[in-house]
Amino acid sequence: MAEFIKLSPALPWIAEQGHAGLVTACAPDRLILESPLKSFSTRLTHITVSLQNDQNFHFKGRLETEVYPFHFIISPEERQTLQELLGQIRKDQHIEICRSQDVEAEGRYTGFQELSFLPEALPLFDHSEIDTSVDFLGQRFALPILITGMTGGIQKGMEINRRLALAAQKFGIPMGVGSQRIALDNAEYAPIFSVKDTAPNVFLIGNIGIAQLADKDALDRCRRAVDMIDANALAIHFNVVQEHIQVEGDRNLAGIMKNLEMICKTLNVPVIAKEVGSGISPSSAKMLAECGIAAIDIGGAGGTSWAHIEGLRSSSDIVSQLGLTFRNWGIPTAYSLVAVREALKDFPLIATGGIRDGLTAAKACALGAQFAGIGLPLLKAALQNEEAVEQAIEGFERGLRLTMLASGAKTLADLKSKIVRGRPYQSTFERLIPSHH
Ligand SMILES: Cc1cc2nc3c(=O)[nH]c(=O)nc-3n(C[C@H](O)[C@H](O)[C@H](O)COP(=O)(O)O)c2cc1C
Repeated sequence: MAEFIKLSPALPWIAEQGHAGLVTACAPDRLILESPLKSFSTRLTHITVSLQNDQNFHFKGRLETEVYPFHFIISPEERQTLQELLGQIRKDQHIEICRSQDVEAEGRYTGFQELSFLPEALPLFDHSEIDTSVDFLGQRFALPILITGMTGGIQKGMEINRRLALAAQKFGIPMGVGSQRIALDNAEYAPIFSVKDTAPNVFLIGNIGIAQLADKDALDRCRRAVDMIDANALAIHFNVVQEHIQVEGDRNLAGIMKNLEMICKTLNVPVIAKEVGSGISPSSAKMLAECGIAAIDIGGAGGTSWAHIEGLRSSSDIVSQLGLTFRNWGIPTAYSLVAVREALKDFPLIATGGIRDGLTAAKACALGAQFAGIGLPLLKAALQNEEAVEQAIEGFERGLRLTMLASGAKTLADLKSKIVRGRPYQSTFERLIPSHH
């Protein structure tokens, strides 16, 4: 049975004889058409579908009118055109779903909930003495906050990236872009990702999916991704669960680790391995380090759930159910961070996944991350305007600084001795007060 992808918003279609309506869903071989008339000539053989940016896609095929909404079966030689259309609308759909729906893990359990800082009531130093700076891949950054790579889609991508880059430059923090695949396949889209004209000093991290590196041209793709945006590092993202739930996902990962090793050895910028919500296990982390990866974003569970987003995109019951089943899949962010830090003592780590305030960012630093990576909140801010992004990052900064001040940690390294499981002095309390007589 065909798996359908809901098109939201629906796209207008038009055909000969003045027929028109909306495409509300599609599958790899067909478009699902609604029409105000609900019945018309079965001889309808050519339709044109328009994207919001006025780009038109022409399809030849055959209309099935036995069921409503109608199925327009696309002729085999034109199914590649449908793939192109899908590639373009997929990213816009992701943005719209992230903006308007609850896309996070149910209960938002990251593991950070189990931790507290030990408060210090007496001021041990002035707030102006707090040092939030961090060293990473040979550079110093003002804050341990990283804008994680997010696709902004075709319609809004350029403006989203521009707003994020301006804020990254202002706060002296690194920024990742979303998957550059679309621009690697079609150079017309490169300007969406090229933010150095706007923010020349930003430490910029390119992005490509591991599934894109299965072929012989893997190194060439990585080089082109770096050159396209003058990237300071390249993130390679791992998203097995998403690719297997996504109707049109890439599933070929055979022999990929060899390519990864070769890329790490050859590329002229550091390579970062990045999960997008399932977390990295200590054994995977060790393999990645042996491959020559320069840093790992453990991308744990508890925040944005890509299984769930893909489920929301689909109109197939099986896919929707898979999305729900795997909505909370993965190692919670704090657990993955602690396990990987234990496995790789001095390795540069980024903790992304469900970090929503400066206090939680401070917890990530206390557990040994160089950066707390932030996704969804900054995407939502970037959809508003430049000021909203600045305000969101300022909120993280103030929460982090207040945590440091109120727990007596002058530097990020000092935070490590201030964090405990449970509530402050809970273990003393439990030791001294018997639970029953
Ligand atoms: C709209 C959106 C698009 C994203 N696109 C990408 C992408 O193209 N490549 C990637 O590696 N991660 C991508 N991510 C994943 C984020 O980098 C991050 O790992 C994830 O959102 C978890 O962080 P959060 O809980 O703070 O959102 C995207 C996230 C969002 C919300």
